[in-house]
Formats: sequence, C-alpha cells, structure tokens
Amino acid sequence: MNFDWHSLGRNSSMVDTSYEIRIAVPKDASGIINCMQSVMDEKIYLVSDIYFYTERGEKDIIKSPDDLSLVASWNGMVVGIMRIQRGVYRKLRHTAILSIAIMKGHRGMGLGEKMILQGISWSRDQGIEKLSLEVFSTNTGAIKLYDKLGFHEEGRKEKQFKIGEVYADGVMMTLFL
Ligand SMILES: CC(C)(COP(=O)(O)OP(=O)(O)OC[C@H]1O[C@@H](n2cnc3c(N)ncnc32)[C@H](O)[C@@H]1OP(=O)(O)O)[C@@H](O)C(=O)NCCC(=O)NCCS
Repeated sequence: MNFDWHSLGRNSSMVDTSYEIRIAVPKDASGIINCMQSVMDEKIYLVSDIYFYTERGEKDIIKSPDDLSLVASWNGMVVGIMRIQRGVYRKLRHTAILSIAIMKGHRGMGLGEKMILQGISWSRDQGIEKLSLEVFSTNTGAIKLYDKLGFHEEGRKEKQFKIGEVYADGVMMTLFL
C-alpha cells in the first residue's frame, strides 16, 4: 500500500465526510482519555477498567517519535484511537505493539480497518518488522478484522482473562511486515 503517512497530518484521510483520521496532537490528550475510558467502561474488550494515563502522560506518548498515535474524530470529538508503540530495548526495536479502541456508536464504519492499515504503512516506513497485539478470544469482531489484515495467531494464553463469569483466552496475534 502506497500510503504517505508523512502527509497525514496535513491532508487527513477521510472515511466519510463526518469522520477524519489524523495523527494525534498534544491537545487531543483529553479526548483520547475520554475515548479510552468510554470503551473501558463497557468492560468487555480491554483488560483495564480504568485508563491510568494522565493528560501529561498521554501528551508524552503523542509526542514520542518512537510511537504513532492516530485519532478518528467526529465533529471535533475523538471517537477512536489507534496506537503503535515500538519496543524500547535494543533487542525489541524491530517489534511494536498495536492497540485500538473505537467508541460504541462509531464501529463498523471502516474506521478501525483504515487506521490499522495506516499504522501498518507507518510501521514499515519505520523499519519495524513485527507488529503484535493481544485480543480476548471472545472479541470475535476484532479477531475478524486482524485476520482480514493478515495477522495470524502466534500463541494463546488459555483462560487468561475472566470477564464476569466468562473465561477468555488471550490470543496473541502478529503480522510480519
Ligand atoms: C474492533 C474494532 C477496532 C474494529 O473497528 P471497526 O471500525 O468497528 O471495524 P471496521 O468497520 O473497520 O471493520 C473492518 C472489518 O473488520 C471486521 N469486523 C469488525 N467488527 C466486526 C464485528 N463486530 N463482527 C464481525 N466482523 C467485524 C469485518 O471483517 C470488517 O470488514 P467488512 O465490513 O468488510 O466485513 C472496534 O470495533 C473496537 O474498537 N471495538 C471495541 C474495542 C476493541 O475491541 N478493541 C480491540 C481490542 S484487542
């Protein structure tokens, strides 16, 4: 895919006229925190129930040249965040972790797929070789999306999570770039 991520900040990518996908800037910090907390409040997709980053911590990640933070905004409100965080240690510099959360009411419209495709393109440009994530086995919609984009299951932590009374495996998924 010939995606020029460098131009993303200026010529943002549109899913439809009401949504904009763009590189996050420090002033998005509170919107990102709200978005993450609203998805965590659903308590079924993400491990933590509380988003621990403060605005200051969030701004530090946004500004980090090692990481990519993309936001989807709708009428100026952050409704989705996709983040790629490169390994810090020398032996992990060829790897990165992907995370994504789209708010309820804004799913199923192509935002997630578009953001991850842009993240893959950015990762390739950075020389990252291995992109990984962990997803609950109960999150079949997300797994379908990762499959569609070429990720494969590289391992599984059985009954790693208990969501209410339901066990979920931790499915480790990877894309070699
Ligand atoms: C999972 C998530 C990132 C997907 O993003 P999205 O914008 O809703 O998905 P898209 O509209 O881009 O869907 C793209 C493809 O993913 C698959 N998909 C996504 N959601 C799906 C669902 N609920 N059921 C089945 N397939 C689904 C489909 O293959 C779809 O392609 P298609 O429309 O051609 O069939 C988003 O729903 C989300 O953030 N969910 C809550 C938080 C979460 O689960 N985060 C990931 C934790 S690992």
